[in-house]
Amino acid sequence: MLRNLSAEPKGGGRRGICLAAVLLPGLLVAGLSYGDQKVSLWERMCEACHDGKTVLNGKVVIDKRRIKEKYRTIDDLVKGVTCQGAPCMNILKHDKKLVGEVGEEIGIPESRPQ
Ligand code: HEC
Repeated sequence: MLRNLSAEPKGGGRRGICLAAVLLPGLLVAGLSYGDQKVSLWERMCEACHDGKTVLNGKVVIDKRRIKEKYRTIDDLVKGVTCQGAPCMNILKHDKKLVGEVGEEIGIPESRPQ
């Protein structure tokens, strides 16, 4: 009887460790893939719509190449996306930092070459 009682918490403890062993690698993998630089911000945040094939509001959404042609500087891009010029993207209105980072990533210069 006594032996049974003392065996129980021990078993419970081991189950706890097993759970941690299963959960921990999962969390690590999730964390790593979130910061994975191989998937660029552009691909993660913009390409789904701006791939030159997606049609929204009855038009093909502008693709990366045309965005780079139309917006010559990061500033232009941020203005274009954050509704200081038309057309714009309401969903990204408050995300200037993200848009700036994406612009940098796809190779739009910080300022106009003189
Ligand atoms: C959910 C789909 C979707 C996603 C995701 C998205 N966009 Fe857009 N974007 C649109 C649509 C639709 C328009 C066109 C708005 C209009 O014409 O009224 C647009 C317009 C734009 C424009 C202006 C286009 C022009 O003709 O000048 C820019 C610049 C732009 N998006 C950049 C981005 C960037 C940068 C990202 C990623 C951070 C992004 N978009 C993510 C759907 C999307």
